Amino acid sequence: MNIADSQTVTAIMRRAGYTASDNAGDADVILLNTCAIREHAEERVLGRLSDLARLKAAHPQRKLGLLGCMAQHNRAALMRKAPWLDLVAGPDSYRRLPELIASANFDPAIDVRLDRTETYADIPPEYENSVRAYVTAMRGCDKFCAFCVVPYVRGRERSVPATDILREVRQLAARGVKEIVLLGQTVNAYRCDQVGFGALLRKVAAVEGIERIRFTSPHPSDMTSDVIEAMAEEPKVQPYLHLPVQSGSDRVLAAMGRGYTSQAYLSLIERLRSAIPNLALSTDIIVGFHSEDQQDFASTLGLMRAVGYDSAFMFKYSVREHTRAFKLGDTVSDTEKSRRLSAVIDLQEALSLERNRALLGCEFPVLVEGPARRGAGMLVGKTPQFKTALFPAAPSIRPGDTIRARVDSATAHSLVCALA
Ligand code: 5AD
Ligand code: SF4
Repeated sequence: MNIADSQTVTAIMRRAGYTASDNAGDADVILLNTCAIREHAEERVLGRLSDLARLKAAHPQRKLGLLGCMAQHNRAALMRKAPWLDLVAGPDSYRRLPELIASANFDPAIDVRLDRTETYADIPPEYENSVRAYVTAMRGCDKFCAFCVVPYVRGRERSVPATDILREVRQLAARGVKEIVLLGQTVNAYRCDQVGFGALLRKVAAVEGIERIRFTSPHPSDMTSDVIEAMAEEPKVQPYLHLPVQSGSDRVLAAMGRGYTSQAYLSLIERLRSAIPNLALSTDIIVGFHSEDQQDFASTLGLMRAVGYDSAFMFKYSVREHTRAFKLGDTVSDTEKSRRLSAVIDLQEALSLERNRALLGCEFPVLVEGPARRGAGMLVGKTPQFKTALFPAAPSIRPGDTIRARVDSATAHSLVCALA
């Protein structure tokens, strides 16, 4: 989502006459896009900001700006910690960036107004030339999970009209993009002018030239039959779903305000698996939420085993100001959170390895992305299940091609293949 936002910002800046520089040292304006989801993300931004302060000190006329959720979340503390900032702009203020930059002279320019209607639908983002492109389908979130700062920093849920999404997808297809990833904080809550998410998937699937469609992140409560049917019936919609569960304990799920029980989540997984053969699943897990005890934690491990996720993003709970859980405080010590985090990571490594090893000898269509970062003479791409596949390069194979690959060996994170 932040990559997509940065591409929108780049497009806005270019319209105003700016050009992009590869090197912060050469730039007249340096904008840092930020995340506020966990404290760790904020700490990294503060570290980066103090590096950039040195560049600014050498050339005081250079403008330094902070964008995104962290700008929205904690602007007062931010201006105290980084008083050399010229500009602070929240996620709904990017349209006004050129004016903000121009007005940031003696005092910093700050614009963190949230706007219930801003979708940037009319601004085609500046895409990198690649096989895959991210297209924003909706912004914001109305779910207000107790731990999460997103609804406060990105504002209310709003969807981009399907006509705008389709225009963008057609333009991308014309530029050779093969895979579209539809984006939104709760992307399957998409609804605009009577078009729901299932219908949107079908409309995007009808665009010629687009070969694969994915989306992230759906919320389990919005996983309606029309979405499942569209996934099952549209061959372009890939058999992979990132479905954040957060916890396997019903007590913790209720305290988080997630709107489902572990049983309801598991039944949903069953429905998905029976509708979509070979579905791969990933998830998000938080360990150490307020009052999570050993029994709750054991339920999380149990749910992970019951589902058998292909991969997972796992986090230590981080108390965020403004959220509903902020007042509750932190009851699990950092040492204990670290212990639980290691345990979920170890379990997931074992599950991922087991799932990947089960694919030995199987063949998959792999959409080629380019040279592998590791392994000279190897190319990398994704299987329909969004698994990383490595295979030997050949002069005839180019990014954007789909090749058939047979799995020769597997680690928890990738499949090493031969051309089939
Ligand atoms: N602490 C830890 N993890 C969090 N996430 C969201 N808020 C927090 C928090 N306060 C995680 C959730 C979400 C993912 C994007 O980040 O797992 O799905
Ligand atoms: Fe945050 Fe996702 Fe919950 Fe929205 S649905 S509040 S983005 S965790």
